[in-house]
Amino acid sequence: MNRVVVSAPGKLLLFGEHAVVYGYPSIVTAVDRRINVEAVKIEGKLDHYNCPGVKDLSFIQGTVKQLKKVYKISQKVAIATNSSFSQNYGLGSSSAVTVATVGALSQLFKLKMSKREIFDLSYKIILSLQGVGSGFDAASAVFGKTLYYVYAGKVIESIKVKSLSLVIGYSGIKADTKTIVKKLGQRYKQNRIEIEEKFIKIAKIVEKARKALINNNYNELGLLMNQNHKLLKELGVSSDRLDTMIEDALKAGASGAKLSGAGGGDCMIALVSEEKKKLVSEAVSKAGGTVIKVNPNAQGVRIES
Ligand code: PMV
Repeated sequence: MNRVVVSAPGKLLLFGEHAVVYGYPSIVTAVDRRINVEAVKIEGKLDHYNCPGVKDLSFIQGTVKQLKKVYKISQKVAIATNSSFSQNYGLGSSSAVTVATVGALSQLFKLKMSKREIFDLSYKIILSLQGVGSGFDAASAVFGKTLYYVYAGKVIESIKVKSLSLVIGYSGIKADTKTIVKKLGQRYKQNRIEIEEKFIKIAKIVEKARKALINNNYNELGLLMNQNHKLLKELGVSSDRLDTMIEDALKAGASGAKLSGAGGGDCMIALVSEEKKKLVSEAVSKAGGTVIKVNPNAQGVRIES
């Protein structure tokens, strides 16, 4: 086999952001925007990269380097990517491209890596490049669907979700995850008890949300989203733009809404009934957001050809 194409999905955090960095659980869903990575064995002295639209090549190059080191491979490769999502939305393009590259190389060199091995190596690479991160995004790209996830993959469990109707609004501002996580880390050091209390409340919300998802209890799920967002606001990680988009989505009939991810920018999500989807989407647009049409609960890393 000299050529393979493997794809991995983007993600959205449904519950538990920030607290997950401190060992608490979260719930993440994979979305149906994917990045394809093609890997080909080539002759020559250097690996070759053709990755239009990938802003930061270091995740791909770092993955090739690290995987070859671990598996003692000297063969040169050409990597090409194409993606169906913008890197600006915070849908996890870096983790998706890392996972898809590990998957592609595993296939190309017949390494027979399990999904857990793909996750472990991808998370290690992402952490070495980003410095911070719970790994929820890598888990989502590998396993797909909707996951109950605890820091560093201590627990990765699939949650059976029947349907999840969301409106997703991009705030127009790229979130700086690393800086936001570090800032909260400083505040955590100064104010540990108060912040820990909020994380514990978030963890309780995550447990309830897991049950609500399993039982298709969307009213409860909406309320839990609102409670989670309130706590994120209190942690100081939201923004005026996100708050306005969320408030307007609720006014337009969403059952619940919250920021998704690090905060400061990127996306908000609103839980909506099918009938309210149009109205809520319009409200989010009017509040300055770009509505992104993605479906949750997508498949994880997979071989395309
Ligand atoms: O900004 P995103 O979508 O990568 O989400 C970050 C979520 C945090 O919990 C703040 C950090 C993490 O790695 O879990």
